[in-house]
Amino acid sequence: MSKIVLGVGGGVAAYKSALLLRALTEAGHDVRVVPTASALRFVGAATFEALSGNPVSTEVWDDVPEVAHVRIGQTADLVVVNPATADLLARAAAGRADDLLTATLLAAHAPVVFVPAMHTEMWLHPATQDNVATLRRRGAVVLPPAVGRLTGPDSGPGRLPEPADVAALAEVVLAGGAAALRQDLAGRRVVVSAGGTREALDPVRFLGNRSSGMQGWALARVAAARGAEVVLVAANVEAPAPFGVRVVPVGSAEELRTAMHAEAAGSGDRGPADVVVMAAAVADFRPGTVAASKLKKGSAGEPTALDLVRNPDVLVELVGGRPAGQLLVGFAAETGDDEADVLTHARAKLQRKGVDLLVVNDVSAGRVFGRSDNEVTVLAADGSASPVLSGPKDTVAAGIWDAVSAALPPR
Ligand code: CTP
Repeated sequence: MSKIVLGVGGGVAAYKSALLLRALTEAGHDVRVVPTASALRFVGAATFEALSGNPVSTEVWDDVPEVAHVRIGQTADLVVVNPATADLLARAAAGRADDLLTATLLAAHAPVVFVPAMHTEMWLHPATQDNVATLRRRGAVVLPPAVGRLTGPDSGPGRLPEPADVAALAEVVLAGGAAALRQDLAGRRVVVSAGGTREALDPVRFLGNRSSGMQGWALARVAAARGAEVVLVAANVEAPAPFGVRVVPVGSAEELRTAMHAEAAGSGDRGPADVVVMAAAVADFRPGTVAASKLKKGSAGEPTALDLVRNPDVLVELVGGRPAGQLLVGFAAETGDDEADVLTHARAKLQRKGVDLLVVNDVSAGRVFGRSDNEVTVLAADGSASPVLSGPKDTVAAGIWDAVSAALPPR
């Protein structure tokens, strides 16, 4: 359990902070909410007090004997400001301490994550961009806002990321500090595949696999938080799109293949991807024929065996056709056996596929599928292995991006 300060700025998106608060307390954290006075015009103090189980105040004049304006910041393990309005970013960048939240920010030793939400014009204004740059230079995390529907008829960058995304990223910073969400992927185009393909047998049946897509989701979310332009080619995943990510839904291996080739190569004003990550579980085989109508038991055409044909290896194709400088990352689910251990099998696969990095999952004894935690090792083309990365999938994703970032050719 960690002590988290949830700062809430005065924007209409403040209502989503109640859901974030809920997600953080359900994850077992002790959350102290510090809203600004204007935040309380959007959400009442009683909501924050009831959901956090802690008192709520906005002014340094409340609770004076407790010296709350420094104690709350000093004792926190993490400060998340959600939403961070243009005004709040400006006050934080200027080092103001004119209410309890800004005083807390000045006294905090812990990592600080700002989650901006405002109208596009305010976000893009040079004053706001300078304030963001100042806060980042001082070591704070300032998440890029999501793109989408804003209050009123407007649409564009400035939307608050969803509470589930922010809660997942808070865990990344708790585990790895502010550096785990640094802007090292800014200006990079990243394509991630996720989920499991479905190979049709007839109009209602398919051959599939158990991949939940959640590791790919975490990779996309963390890459977006680290500044990348992210495309997620998603095979049969129901989850809502992570913030700031463009999702291309696909079904079969063939559809995934077409989408991956198009996204990796880029088109029009979108250049080729800098990084392609194949986290999807792609079916190695598909039925040789797909029945045009439902296969019926007892009918003349009742099947007695499945006739399977091999699907192309998308990753190998992408490696073969890659533009100069594009980094290819594969995933491998391995088990040790009598012949070799997991890493030996994985090194052979890395060579065979020709990838730059291979993320290796040890799936001995049914581990991994459907779990919220993961444990992987990242192998590099020179055969070296990263330390074991373990924990929630977003934390593992941050470790994978560290390895990718270190391997990316400089611009
Ligand atoms: N992959 C792919 N196209 C396929 C199959 C797999 O692009 N038709 C990619 C996966 O997305 C993953 C990697 O290749 O990045 C996994 O390689 P694969 O050889 O399928 O590994 P395993 O499933 O572990 O297979 P094997 O049975 O060969 O060990």
